[in-house]
Amino acid sequence: MATASEALSLIDTIDHVALAVHDLDAAVELYERAFGVSFRWRERNDEQGYEVAAFYMDGLHVELLAPLRADSVISGFLAKKGAGVHHIAFRVDDIDRALEQLRTRGIRVVDETPRRGTADSRIAFVHPKAMLGTLIELVEPADDAESSR
Ligand code: CO
Repeated sequence: MATASEALSLIDTIDHVALAVHDLDAAVELYERAFGVSFRWRERNDEQGYEVAAFYMDGLHVELLAPLRADSVISGFLAKKGAGVHHIAFRVDDIDRALEQLRTRGIRVVDETPRRGTADSRIAFVHPKAMLGTLIELVEPADDAESSR
């Protein structure tokens, strides 16, 4: 039987890092001014009550997430932890297999089954209490997805 260190890694690379901010326009302006990046993607998620803007680098992207209303998940996060890293997303080949492996390894997840993410990806969150306080997202990109948008 393989030890943990001999086992194949479930995760391939970082897909994105998501940062919670209070004011999306101000945050976009700051990142553009500080680093000269350009935000190629901005989208409202009215169902979940937040807005996201992202810039892309070498196969991964950074998302800024801001609440649209007081009862959004991002509002709750900001109230509890303040602005900062909201989650880190790791890319996986096969999210069903990854979730099955986590179950086998006794790691608590938020999503027992994958849900649909952006660009037809399939995503699932691992519970932050299982990961020392950090919310981890797993992303299986769509088959025809480019490594960056
Ligand atoms: Co994410």
